[in-house]
Amino acid sequence: MNVIGIETSCDETSVAVISNGKLVSNLISSQDFHVDYGGVVPELSSRAHLQILMPLLKKALKDSGIELKKIDLITATAGPGLIGALLVGLTFAKGLAYSLKKTFIPVNHIEGHIFSGFLMEEKPEFPYLCLVVSGGHTLLLIVKSDVEIIKLGTTVDDAAGEAFDKVSKLLGLGYPGGPQIQKVSNNQNSDFVEFPIAHCKNEYDFSFSGLKTSVIRFIQKEYGSSDKIPKDHIPLIAASFQKAVVNALTKNVEKALHNFNVNSISLVGGVAANKLLRNELEKLSIRYNKKIVIPSLEFCGDNAAMIAYRGMKLYEYAQNTKENLFYFSNHNAYPDLTGNTFIRDYH
Ligand code: KG4
Ligand code: ZN
Repeated sequence: MNVIGIETSCDETSVAVISNGKLVSNLISSQDFHVDYGGVVPELSSRAHLQILMPLLKKALKDSGIELKKIDLITATAGPGLIGALLVGLTFAKGLAYSLKKTFIPVNHIEGHIFSGFLMEEKPEFPYLCLVVSGGHTLLLIVKSDVEIIKLGTTVDDAAGEAFDKVSKLLGLGYPGGPQIQKVSNNQNSDFVEFPIAHCKNEYDFSFSGLKTSVIRFIQKEYGSSDKIPKDHIPLIAASFQKAVVNALTKNVEKALHNFNVNSISLVGGVAANKLLRNELEKLSIRYNKKIVIPSLEFCGDNAAMIAYRGMKLYEYAQNTKENLFYFSNHNAYPDLTGNTFIRDYH
């Protein structure tokens, strides 16, 4: 079976091809021009997706040596994401499926991330504890099977990546914040400031807005304003902040490892690229004797390989159960902007 995946939820345009279960192409085009604006400009993002999507699809097919008529299934991110950006990929994918008379499956972006560990050689084993950390989401989940995902906790305010982006801006380090903060924090004293970790009502929830406020307060108290921070203090504040975020995330992971029986751990999403976070979770996995799967960088940030994989799994599930839920056999039906989702609350 040949599957096309399309991802356009934010500032990455990506097209992937999976052939007989093997990823044969995963092209990612990042919209670097948003850097000039200090964040993603939705309208510019949609327009860039529109321009790059067709050439990217052609290249992905050429690279994988698969003709368009040999494609059996088309999948695309349906949401969550920027509405204009999503619509470009979705309408493109639906139009393609309609013209080829093939099945189209809308995929939930977060579910794409949740199962991205399966793109690796070493795969997670069900049930696994999954920490999803991206620019828009922070979730702690127990993934029992392809269609059973239990949500233990989420952020009550900012997402982890969002916190990195906001604090980076505050420190004058630019966008996207995660990689910048990681870079300047390297080998710096992370005990320079002790930023607090929030405690939430639900013990598995996260909160990062208070942490961001603490950084603002610290800067105001010590220097008056952010443009007066001495150059050599910026890496120290960044490192202290990074440590606080990583501690807040690992604390809840450890609690869950203590209270739930899982076979493995998986760390996914854009923030999973963070070296300190990867190292700390690896240490936890050793301490708790669990297998850990952290996707390679190509599969941490937004990519279409994870969308194609998830779409393929949904297709198989629908075939086996004869559920017609996932088929847009009625091409006039418009998918909602979340895609199919199997995430359920624990409480
Ligand atoms: O999953 P993703 O590519 O897009 C969303 O679905 O949001 O995640 C993007 C987020 C951004 O907030 C970015 O700052 C963060 O991932 N990020 C990092 C690192 N690389 C990217 N955060 C911390 N450390 C990194 N090395
Ligand atoms: Zn994402």
